[in-house]
Amino acid sequence: MKKAFIFDLDGVLCFTDKYHFRAWKALADRLGIPFDENVNDRLRGVSRMASLEIILSLGSASYSEEEKAAFAEEKNELYRTFLKGMTPSDITQEVRSTLDELRRRGYRLAIGSSSKNTPLILERTDMAKYFDAVSDGNNITHSKPDPEVFLKAAEFLGLRPEECYVVEDAEAGIDAGCAGGFTTVGIGPAAHYAKTDMPIRTFADILQL
Ligand code: BG6
Ligand code: MG
Repeated sequence: MKKAFIFDLDGVLCFTDKYHFRAWKALADRLGIPFDENVNDRLRGVSRMASLEIILSLGSASYSEEEKAAFAEEKNELYRTFLKGMTPSDITQEVRSTLDELRRRGYRLAIGSSSKNTPLILERTDMAKYFDAVSDGNNITHSKPDPEVFLKAAEFLGLRPEECYVVEDAEAGIDAGCAGGFTTVGIGPAAHYAKTDMPIRTFADILQL
């Protein structure tokens, strides 16, 4: 019997993945590196620096660690200007009513996100109130596909992985959930991934699991 849901944030609860794309695209264009939605899909769930390495690997130049840190900062600055424009209306009614219903059914809810910008997103969208625990890029040393972020979320909830679903849009996130011993629920790109335990078509399908 499951007691909790651990949700990825970007691409599951909110559509910040489009802001990640725009901000990386601006950097890639400036550096003359080809970048499209297919490359962007490979960045889902992956940490900021690992994402940058993937993008730079598509160009021919090599850069120092200082230059890479500056590129990551440049992307994050632009990304945060997009996030600051978010409001509670950026969270769909479907997501809000599903979270409300899960709470009404007695489930404990947590965030399990690689993003260091999680606190800003939760604040701008007024979503913090739904969650009993938040595990994010600020409390981990290994990003997805390592299971650390989800194991920490379960620990913060005081539960074992077998008692929790992990809800993800990224293959790296499904890999992390599997590695941690969670039951994985896949939405969007992750719904078509072979390792996903339970694919769903739309967020409210969670209520039928
Ligand atoms: C994940 C996104 O949630 O967070 C990745 O899917 C992103 O695309 C990662 O790279 C890290 O985000 P941030 O906000 O710390 O740069
Ligand atoms: Mg995601």
